[in-house]
Amino acid sequence: MTERNKHQRTRPINAGILKKFFGIEGIDGAGKTLQAKLLGEFLEAQQIPVMVTCEPTRDLPFGKRLRERLKNATSDPLGDASLFALDRIDHYTTQVIPALKSGKVVVTDRYVWSSIAYQAVQCKEYFPDSESSASWIKFLNSQVDLPKFIFLLDADPELTLARRYTETASADLEKFEKTDFLTQVREEFLKLARINPLQCQVIDAGQDIDTIHSQIREKILSLLSI
Ligand SMILES: Nc1ncnc2c1ncn2[C@@H]1O[C@H](COP(=O)(O)OP(=O)(O)OP(=O)(O)O)[C@@H](O)[C@H]1O
Ligand SMILES: [Mg+2]
Repeated sequence: MTERNKHQRTRPINAGILKKFFGIEGIDGAGKTLQAKLLGEFLEAQQIPVMVTCEPTRDLPFGKRLRERLKNATSDPLGDASLFALDRIDHYTTQVIPALKSGKVVVTDRYVWSSIAYQAVQCKEYFPDSESSASWIKFLNSQVDLPKFIFLLDADPELTLARRYTETASADLEKFEKTDFLTQVREEFLKLARINPLQCQVIDAGQDIDTIHSQIREKILSLLSI
């Protein structure tokens, strides 16, 4: 029995509705929010009902707490990871599932993979290695179902951060610190993609916006059998 199965929810939801659940993942600045928005607009234009959502959530209590908490650079990573999981369970139960049940496609901008990738790196000092750390994060998240398919927007952190920072000295310092961290996070994402080749597509996030959007669009239409 795999570790996930051991802790899996005993009241699984109808697997059929999960076929319309999609995730967009990747490091900071990879283009997740932009691509989630473009995908939502595209599906709406096709008259396909859709809910585009994100994590941390913006309107649920744990998501609000988390966004506040993350402004403090020294917040404890174990607490962060736990709060991410609480927010996710609320998000899944009160927003994702109802939307799927009403027949909508759900596109989430970040989900479980972001927790595994970011918090596994952040929490690894508390565990013997990043595998044990990732395993604890998976346990915390074992009561939500994963999306049917995940688009991993992958690019070098130097490139994604350059989209977000200007060339000031202080920004350069922050960029340097973050580049090192995000390089490890990127590796964790790619590890997840290697382990789950059928559930995800790795997309080169260094390509232009329209090219990425067409790749996602094409795959979604085939997954929805349209
Ligand atoms: N393929 C691309 N080429 C050039 N610029 C892009 C591309 N994708 C996104 N951008 C720009 O990069 C910036 C970051 O994009 P976006 O906010 O979608 O990233 P994100 O992955 O959601 O980041 P975060 O994880 O920090 O929320 C935005 O200004 C966006 O317009
Ligand atoms: Mg974003």
